[in-house]
Amino acid sequence: MTPGSGTAVRALAAQILDAVAHRGRSLKAELAAALPRLADPRDRALAEAICFAALRQRVRYDEALKRWMQKPPGRRDSELRALLWVGFAQIDALRLPAHAALSATVEAARALKRAHQAGMVNALLRRAQREGLPTAAAELAWPHWLRTKVRADWTARAEDIFVASAEAAPLWLRINRARLPASAYLERLREALPDLSAQTTPSAADAIRVDTPVAVTALPGFSTGDVSIQDGAAQLVADALAPAADARVLDACAAPGGKAAHLLERNPGLRLLALDVDARRLQRVRDTLDRVGARASLRVADAGDPSAWWEGQPFDAILLDAPCSATGIVRRQPDVLLHRRPEDITALCALQARLLDAAWTLLRPGGALLYATCSILKDENERQIDAFLARTPDARAEPLDARFGHVSGAGRQRLPGEDGMDGFFYARLIRTEAA
Ligand SMILES: C[S@@+](CC[C@H](N)C(=O)[O-])C[C@H]1O[C@@H](n2cnc3c(N)ncnc32)[C@H](O)[C@@H]1O
Repeated sequence: MTPGSGTAVRALAAQILDAVAHRGRSLKAELAAALPRLADPRDRALAEAICFAALRQRVRYDEALKRWMQKPPGRRDSELRALLWVGFAQIDALRLPAHAALSATVEAARALKRAHQAGMVNALLRRAQREGLPTAAAELAWPHWLRTKVRADWTARAEDIFVASAEAAPLWLRINRARLPASAYLERLREALPDLSAQTTPSAADAIRVDTPVAVTALPGFSTGDVSIQDGAAQLVADALAPAADARVLDACAAPGGKAAHLLERNPGLRLLALDVDARRLQRVRDTLDRVGARASLRVADAGDPSAWWEGQPFDAILLDAPCSATGIVRRQPDVLLHRRPEDITALCALQARLLDAAWTLLRPGGALLYATCSILKDENERQIDAFLARTPDARAEPLDARFGHVSGAGRQRLPGEDGMDGFFYARLIRTEAA
């Protein structure tokens, strides 16, 4: 760590959190814009870890502010609130040595031109260190309307969902099967990083789960594409679609390209067309495929309007990894809970239905479409597929096995944290001869 950089890390983390929690900005975008200001990669990793921990635990940290301050920071002091979260996250979730966490955070108050509040920051952090942070029900991190929906959809499991969504996710690796099996990579990994806790899993053949934090750049063979980062639940998509080795495949919503890359690592002979409506994001598919050495056709297009791009040859298999509420990956994107609005769900459901109907017309009879989301809401999943099956006479659902989670209508739902994986929905739909 660069000398004196500790203060800059804390100040930057507070600014990022302030923008995300109080000005509606996306965590990913803020991190991407702000982190390059820190020169040392260890400083960047620390700032990022603080932001994630603070957002996951913010309800508990606000509870502390409510209990310990006569008047918790209001709108005009939103940056102070964020800085206090930064301090609490270091003492509580990250368990950093208290002296460093305290002094750097108090210094950060001065750096943020809040010298007049530095004494108060110091006192509150000392109290947190002495007494620990209070508990709070994990569900309180979810806006009321969304928590009500989750409770209605998953009554008996809702509590587990809220708790799992507040926890840090393990790191999942996807091993490039075209290069080596997961078991061989695990040996290589253990040789390179003997202190790492990592294991393969029977439910996802190419996956290794890593439970100790590690920088991606430290993973042997990452830059040459032997290994990628991808949650176990996302890796199961390739099993659920399982196209024939030389199939014509459409990946209708492909960016940033993780699932396309996985399909091609398994079957380099696939003729895969990767679409995305967002040109900048599609460039990331190109980068992803280049890194793992896979080849596909790429196109910027609206999958919901095939007349603009489809040349008339049907696909054997289609992956529709639809845009969704991301309610299954809150542990990876904790700001989802701050930014989602009820009308987003309505709009997403309409978009998903449009994409399903359009993709269906591109599938050959006998072909398979895999509908997947990283949502846990039945409106986007079970009910979306029920409605599709009801209006589509030549569609039937093919059951998936228990590896894909709980039965949910015609599909399967993995809930967040189960087997250490993200929340994910899968439905495999077969096109029959026209009714
Ligand atoms: C869940 S992400 C896909 C993740 C990707 N399959 C992967 O594994 O890396 C959904 C994607 O759908 C894209 N999208 C949204 N509307 C679309 C449309 N009408 N046509 C094609 N892509 C669309 C978004 O830009 C986004 O990249």
